[in-house]
Amino acid sequence: MLKVVKENASLGATILGVNLKQKLNSETISFIKEALAVHQVIFFREQEISSLDHRNLALNFGSLQTHPAYPTIINFPEITILENDRENPSKIEEWHTDMTFKGNPPLGSILIGKIIPKKGGDTLFASLAAAFDDLTDDLKEELQDLTAEHSFEYGFKESLSEPGGRERLSEALKANPPVTHPVIRTHPITKRKLIFVNRLFTSQIIELKKTESEKLLKFLFDHIQKEKYICRFKWEKDSIAFWDNRSVLHKPDNNYWPQLRRMERITIDDPDRPY
Ligand code: SIN
Repeated sequence: MLKVVKENASLGATILGVNLKQKLNSETISFIKEALAVHQVIFFREQEISSLDHRNLALNFGSLQTHPAYPTIINFPEITILENDRENPSKIEEWHTDMTFKGNPPLGSILIGKIIPKKGGDTLFASLAAAFDDLTDDLKEELQDLTAEHSFEYGFKESLSEPGGRERLSEALKANPPVTHPVIRTHPITKRKLIFVNRLFTSQIIELKKTESEKLLKFLFDHIQKEKYICRFKWEKDSIAFWDNRSVLHKPDNNYWPQLRRMERITIDDPDRPY
């Protein structure tokens, strides 16, 4: 029987009683969709699934994306490999929502732990809904009509400045010009309001002068990262985290270097633009 165990007051829940290798029936898919919307990130344990199972699981929730900058599994262009070790430390340092440099940022991602370091390498998730709820009424009102620029170039500035980086990413740069999103978006299912900016891809608030924009963004970024909005997920091999990319920020804790950590991720399209 399916069961939800809440992990944290703001967000996160573990789903028990499901085998993700099997084809899911419509009740189970609806249950998972609802749990994802309400808890914002959901976790599964001991799910030893193949790349094909991973793809079939993700297809229950929408069409699948390919990532412009990461390596993928042979014959599975939608499965991104995130592998880091002594020679290749993780470059994902910033809190972010995935791919907000796109007009339609993803609905969510399903990340599987394949090789887990003995110590460290947790993933942190922060609730954009709980962070919004705690803003003052005046600030909520002020933010309501603002929009922000999100940019691939801004987010990948370190990779672009590496030798050969601009050539390697030239197609991705061309395909992803900066986009604008509302600073506050509404979750389409729960109708909760969400602070939709992130340190990695949000470059400026359009309606404000540069210094005012920097000040407000810094305030929001720091606010969202407060401990009370954060859930820390400790990985085991074959654990799965499925996050709602509309309502959480996330980041890996890169404290495992120089150990090896390998994760595989599928990212699901959102047919709707943020509103
Ligand atoms: C990601 O940022 O999508 C990956 C998170 C992780 O590796 O923990």
